[in-house]
Amino acid sequence: YSEEDLYRPNFHFTPKKGWMNDPNGMFYYNGYYHLFYQYYPDSNVWGPMHWGHAISTDLITWTEKPIALYPDEKGYIFSGSAVVDVKNTSGFGSLKNPPMVAMFTYHDMKKEKAGETNYQSQGIAYSLNEGLTWTKYEANPIIENPNIKDFRDPKMTWDAIHQQWIMVLAAGDKTMFYRSKNLKEWELLSDFGKDIGAHGGVWECPDFFPILVEGSDDYKWVMLLSINPGGPNGGSATQYFVGDFDGKTFTLDKTFSQDLKEQEALYIDYGRDNYAGVTWANISEVDGRKLFIGWMSNWQYAEKVPTEKWRSSMTIPRELSLVKENGRYRIAFQPVRELNNYISKTIKKETLKIDKETIITDQSLVDLSKVEIRFTLKGLKKDVYTFSFSNKSKNTLRFGINTKDKYFFIDRKNSGDLSFSDVFANTVSKAPFTEDFATMEVKVIVDKTSIEVFYNNGKTVMTEIFFPEKPMETFTVSKANFNFSVENLIINQLNFN
Ligand code: FRU
Repeated sequence: YSEEDLYRPNFHFTPKKGWMNDPNGMFYYNGYYHLFYQYYPDSNVWGPMHWGHAISTDLITWTEKPIALYPDEKGYIFSGSAVVDVKNTSGFGSLKNPPMVAMFTYHDMKKEKAGETNYQSQGIAYSLNEGLTWTKYEANPIIENPNIKDFRDPKMTWDAIHQQWIMVLAAGDKTMFYRSKNLKEWELLSDFGKDIGAHGGVWECPDFFPILVEGSDDYKWVMLLSINPGGPNGGSATQYFVGDFDGKTFTLDKTFSQDLKEQEALYIDYGRDNYAGVTWANISEVDGRKLFIGWMSNWQYAEKVPTEKWRSSMTIPRELSLVKENGRYRIAFQPVRELNNYISKTIKKETLKIDKETIITDQSLVDLSKVEIRFTLKGLKKDVYTFSFSNKSKNTLRFGINTKDKYFFIDRKNSGDLSFSDVFANTVSKAPFTEDFATMEVKVIVDKTSIEVFYNNGKTVMTEIFFPEKPMETFTVSKANFNFSVENLIINQLNFN
């Protein structure tokens, strides 16, 4: 197998060549979803950061465009965000041709090497041709470093509730909020997060937005916040907070404060490979969905995974919602529905009785390197329910539910090449479940080198990558003790030709 054949994902975005990390600056405009990303074209490890660029009409098939932002004498171009300035508040464009405005972090390597702490500041750039080319603002940086070592990853949003631009950035062990009238001058409002949530690592890549609580007219404000290291299964992970924002200050909802007394943090994904994810701007003009994408890797081993030509891919884009259940707020994710447009064949089974290890499907029926699988588990007892993808090279990727000890898991200990890192498969990754489930609804998305599992409408998600020696050929289910049944099984073959 060539690296392309074996490892290049079928339907997850990867750059043709070079290194990629965080998604940056996503917005929607004029029929296109734009995705920018931390990019180093000249190597397959992290280096002088650029913003790469790709566009899509459906969030699934992407076309790479020329590099959007290059590092310059002020520094590398670290993560940030972009908005379509529809009212031309910045004056960079016109009402007829609104500018796209990006804010990024300048990371000044010279200052860092000289031992100074003030080497990260914020700069802006604008585009008058739908993000194809960008002009950096001559008065950069627009936000100077206030002597905070980690001061980065600005995320801008139009706050329609308070009629202002707002921006949140990560500042070490907290986030800081700003507001603006013109995207150029920013006023510091408040900060959030000291001693709140998980602090096992530095805070990075915040996102902050209002969202309607599903099935109601109430809305809440949500913060996504990436931390590295200190994730629940090691390394990088993204936690979230739910609360209220009065235009200046973010306050946790009472119920969420209670949640944080019961567990250190809530994570949008308990797998090890969903980091630095944020949401798209300017989607409301389409259909108001809140759309998210994350970097499908982990700083623990991202630079060592066994691909040479490119490194890293993005998660499947996901629709984010906020649900209220039993008085508690939870974020839920679903893969975007556009994936359904690629279904070429469906296999259905109403009831599958499992009394030993049972093969659900194999390569004679579906290509397991591009599938979406859904099923319902009913009448679960205290047991361990294991689903596995395997091949004749004896590689096995397992995921499932341990209802005895109350966790979901992904186990990639035998999933193929592990030689590149000691920690890649050192433990089984786990996600807690706190409720009692009689019925468990499961959705799984599998590409050549990734698995994304959505439990119970996406209230618990686990995303992980793996590197098999040959493609996975068989999908099996087994149980430890009690017989059970898999109901309403649907296997959707996806096709991208
Ligand atoms: C997160 C991150 C950001 C930073 C970028 C640099 O993965 O560390 O905080 O802006 O990567 O590439």
